[in-house]
Amino acid sequence: MNQAALHKLLSSKKENQSLDELFELRLVTNLTLIKDLFFSLYPEEHYRATFQKLLKQFSKLYNSRPENLKQQDVDRLKKGNWYQSEKLVGSQLYVDRFNKDLKGLHNKLSYFEELGINFLHLMPLTTRPKGENDGGYAVNSYDKIDAKYGTQKDFVKLTETLRKKKMYVMLDFVVNHTSNEYSWAKKAIAGNKKYQEYYYTYADRKVPDEFEKSLPEIFPETSPGNFTFVLEMNKWVMTCFNNYQWDLNYTNPEVFLEMLANLVNLVNLGVDVIRFDALAFLWKRIGTTSQNLPEAHILTSLFRMCLQVVAPGTILLAEAIVAPTDIIKYFGEDGRKGNECEIAYNASLMALLWNSIATKEIGLLHKSLINLPQKPKDSTWINYIRSHDDIGLGMDDFFIHEMGWNPQEHRKFILNYYCQFLDWSPAKGMLFMYNPKTGDGRITGSAASLLGLEKGIEENNSNLINEAINKINMLHGIIMAFTGIPLIYAGDEIATLNDYSFLKDKNKKEDSRWINRPYHNWETVANLEFKNTPESKVFFALKKLIALRKKHSVFADTNNIDFHNTGNNHILVFERKAKEGILILCNFNTSREVIDGNWITKLGYLKNQMFRDIITDKKIKLNSGFLELNPYQIFWLKKF
Ligand code: GLC
Repeated sequence: MNQAALHKLLSSKKENQSLDELFELRLVTNLTLIKDLFFSLYPEEHYRATFQKLLKQFSKLYNSRPENLKQQDVDRLKKGNWYQSEKLVGSQLYVDRFNKDLKGLHNKLSYFEELGINFLHLMPLTTRPKGENDGGYAVNSYDKIDAKYGTQKDFVKLTETLRKKKMYVMLDFVVNHTSNEYSWAKKAIAGNKKYQEYYYTYADRKVPDEFEKSLPEIFPETSPGNFTFVLEMNKWVMTCFNNYQWDLNYTNPEVFLEMLANLVNLVNLGVDVIRFDALAFLWKRIGTTSQNLPEAHILTSLFRMCLQVVAPGTILLAEAIVAPTDIIKYFGEDGRKGNECEIAYNASLMALLWNSIATKEIGLLHKSLINLPQKPKDSTWINYIRSHDDIGLGMDDFFIHEMGWNPQEHRKFILNYYCQFLDWSPAKGMLFMYNPKTGDGRITGSAASLLGLEKGIEENNSNLINEAINKINMLHGIIMAFTGIPLIYAGDEIATLNDYSFLKDKNKKEDSRWINRPYHNWETVANLEFKNTPESKVFFALKKLIALRKKHSVFADTNNIDFHNTGNNHILVFERKAKEGILILCNFNTSREVIDGNWITKLGYLKNQMFRDIITDKKIKLNSGFLELNPYQIFWLKKF
């Protein structure tokens, strides 16, 4: 049930309930569903006692929640779907790379305020193995802050300030795996049977070999296969990601109970949104890819319904970077509609935008967007261009075929375009996890480098530099106007280029995702006001877009988006509709493109042959009845 509906239901019972009464009511309200979900994963005849244990756990978890957060939970429920607001704009950052540690970040909050950012995704902060640790996604603890970032107190203090400033914070919950140094893994290694059953451990290769027949490889270059032999334990353990990341065995309900407690402990530090990491992998079954299985959805919903009882002010983001039609299922389908994650990454939009930049055409983007099923009305997207991860080409083969292209050849072209295998391409990216067995590969690189800025600067080519700036601004203009929360990858607001220093670090050099995890350049920031550089052009354009987005309530996500087909295969057009509408047009081609003005007149955005662009705040006249767009130009048209 969504936040607003739950509040309505609870407040219809009685006026002025205490916080504790409201908790009891939430428990009673969600109980049947929780029970159904639990027993559909863990058969009632075997696990009645475990379910009773879960029930007992609720009050303990609730009592551990700080009073001010309990109050905030209730206030948030009253507010309804706060995460769909046009006022929310996010940034994703590595705390140490941004400004040393949590205190350093605390001191720089004004930087975000100036830009208009009020939602921060902080990359993993908890303890992790010293050597390779997948950027902290191999966790040694779920709530102990790693000393390099500071202390738990520093984090709590930061969240207090953020709350005062009406800013939100998102942290990861690495729900699918722990590191091989996590306390359970250590006990398993020491021979403790109970904890060996917290993971998928096997004495021989029989079961692993069966699994391998259908499991894909996530990191084929650095961690081929999905099982690792642990000498001390004399057993194989499932490790779908890196060999030091052990997959949790959720067929064991004790794992769920303990992970729920871990989740609540993390949330109780003052986290507003939990990024549910790699949730598509939560359930494994021989003979399948073990991704997106129905049980993974049931488990997600179970976490969500339990968290809603204890801490309803905290919501979940699905990190499911899977096929477009699979992503949308993490909002919950059918009986579970609206009962899984409130937010999901719009990985399809991200991949398709990069596809359109490379092809200069919007056909595939348009086709894919209009064919995506409508998401539930209480859910929203995170729209982004770049993140700390690679860009996977998660486009639908069916639509690639419909474009008249061969999917394999098409993907090869995109990889070649971005990964420096085509002389004429302006992009400077790197190939990530190329799998010669399947021909699959992914792309890494910073947005600015992938869009040609690095090459432009190297070649001192002002055309290329300007084109790159326009591309960056256009992509930012698209995610600012799309349905959902725009998330800027820290550094992109100052057009940060690739960082090649990872090649010299033995723990990072095999993982080219580090090319886009740079230290924040505060010198550039200090000079933004005074220089006419690409960095300042990007920064101030973005600042303006953010302010404009926040000014127009039409950008709140009520699923109010329409896609239009103008017949011009280079121009993407979509409309945000409410009382007032905004029509977004952008040109993906390197040359000037036109569309027929009559068509826009019909939509109501033209008057006396003039249209009004709110980005430049200019009225512009049609040219012989045609609207012209320069290469990579974007308009946000408003009616007169
Ligand atoms: C997510 C993270 C990625 C990490 C993986 C395994 O996909 O975004 O960086 O490698 O999970 O935890």
